[in-house]
Amino acid sequence: MYLVLKGCGLPVTDDALEEYDTGDTIQELRSALKVLGHDVIPLGWGQDLVEDLSRGSYPDLVFNIAEGFNGRAREAQVPALLEMLDIRFVGSDAFALATALDKNAAKLVVNNVGVRVADGWVANKVEDVRRGWFKRYPMIVKPNNEGSSRGISKVSVVHNQDELRERVADVLASYKQPALVEEYIEGRELTVGLVGDPVQVLGIMEVSPLKPRDEFIYSIEVKRNWRELVSYECPARLTATEQKYVQEAAVAAFTALGCKDMARVDFRLTREGTPVFLEINPLPGLSPTTSDLCIMAAALGISHHELVGRILKGAVDRYSLNAS
Ligand SMILES: Nc1ncnc2c1ncn2[C@@H]1O[C@H](COP(=O)(O)OP(=O)(O)OP(=O)(O)O)[C@@H](O)[C@H]1O
Ligand SMILES: [Mg+2]
Repeated sequence: MYLVLKGCGLPVTDDALEEYDTGDTIQELRSALKVLGHDVIPLGWGQDLVEDLSRGSYPDLVFNIAEGFNGRAREAQVPALLEMLDIRFVGSDAFALATALDKNAAKLVVNNVGVRVADGWVANKVEDVRRGWFKRYPMIVKPNNEGSSRGISKVSVVHNQDELRERVADVLASYKQPALVEEYIEGRELTVGLVGDPVQVLGIMEVSPLKPRDEFIYSIEVKRNWRELVSYECPARLTATEQKYVQEAAVAAFTALGCKDMARVDFRLTREGTPVFLEINPLPGLSPTTSDLCIMAAALGISHHELVGRILKGAVDRYSLNAS
């Protein structure tokens, strides 16, 4: 078993490295894979990865956690390389990762299978704000191709055209990518963990602000300071019908995008009980202490090793590999 380390690069905004795993997380993952009986060899990223792979025999399986660094499809680069070389890997393929990373594209695919998504549009330049067909405030403005709440802070919710223009201009300039403008969905914040192949719902977790407030968003400030600002409840307190709708919507999104082995899907649940898809993370963080999927697993009594084992088993079964 080989492990790919996440890519790294020079920071351009203060959240530029937010998506990348720490050495501790990589260590924890290595130790989980070792406990599961595998030899783990860290692979580099970029040029190092290409050199590592061209040096000798290919690994049996790659546990891909590489976020990549450059380009719109950065999360798809390592899977694309592995697909090209016919090397087996854990997790979603290049197409699913590239599509999920483009929040607007992911919404189109997910909406196409009947899951409600937040209405919105993409601004490629500030002038697009004037042409925006959607005018109901509040709205939220986010970078179209980011994760870990990069570029999503308390000022991301806008209430008039001046604020909207300002946020769009800031996203375009700071993140060098289109800004996604969406209706602000009032409602409970839910995230759904999915693991395995065939995929199974691990759990549904609710994220609530410790101090109730209007227009709560699970922003970068909140994610960095989660111990003081939010509470997590898993399983979320839902009616049987709400639970069914949320689970079905999560699995439908995962399946429509062709995801494999693991993902976290974010929803808002409206007062009427309709789950509204916000985005999907087919490469969810696996930090035992800070990543939502691991926090969810811990709340359900599932250890980090066991969680990693369930993710791995999906790929092992898919490729009919011997797990030992
Ligand atoms: N349309 C929306 N309406 C209301 N809140 C929203 C909307 N879009 C995003 N948010 C809030 O902002 C948070 C972050 O948005 P989103 O999940 O799209 O970002 P992310 O950076 O991809 O997150 P992750 O850390 O899960 O990768 C959401 O969890 C939610 O609280
Ligand atoms: Mg999210």
